[in-house]
Amino acid sequence: MAAYHVVLVHFPIALWMTATLAILWRAVSDGALAKAIDRALVPLLTIGLLSGIAAFAVGLMVWPWETVSSTPMGRNHMLLASWTIAYWALLLVTRWLQGEAVWDGMMRWVMAGLAILGSVLLGITGTLGGHLVGIYTQVSDALRPLGWEVYTTFYVPTFTLAAIGVVAVLLIGLGVWASKERHAKVGSYSAS
Ligand code: HEM
Repeated sequence: MAAYHVVLVHFPIALWMTATLAILWRAVSDGALAKAIDRALVPLLTIGLLSGIAAFAVGLMVWPWETVSSTPMGRNHMLLASWTIAYWALLLVTRWLQGEAVWDGMMRWVMAGLAILGSVLLGITGTLGGHLVGIYTQVSDALRPLGWEVYTTFYVPTFTLAAIGVVAVLLIGLGVWASKERHAKVGSYSAS
């Protein structure tokens, strides 16, 4: 199954990286090209999610469960893959249900923040996958100051959890701010 996993992971990685660029572009631009790219976002995120789920399912069949769940790299690779999929599913559902309203006011920065966080999680997932096959990358050096030693840290370190918590609170704050801004705008339209 290893060969299938290696082939399959290329799809979510490529699609989610493309989606990140599309989201960042749309966040900073209201131009015709940015709007055209945005129209492709829901299909892009849908195929990304489906291929991510396929890569995940096949990933579970590569090594025996006892092996993958008892090594720090295997366990963290699986954990980060779950977070990555959850983040990109959240982005898809948000864009799908909210439509173009996600680009109103501050909401666009929430989208950009989620996309950057989703890419960071995807990058760490891929890095840990690379380590599982013996390919070293410098991303692991960047994780070290966060208290994360990829070969030995079995659980997500406290400092990393705190950093995730701070970013989550910031994103929620940004979301509340954006929603208040939208309601204020809708209120002023209906009053006039
Ligand atoms: C979004 C989901 C996932 C992504 C993007 C991903 C990504 C990767 C990458 C980039 C590699 C290195 C491949 C190579 O360079 O040869 C890898 C390897 C690996 N991944 Fe994943 N992975 C995902 C989910 C999972 C899950 C859920 C598991 C289950 C434990 C898993 C288990 C493995 C294993 C065991 C290897 C080593 C394969 C080998 O021995 O050749 N992956 N993964």
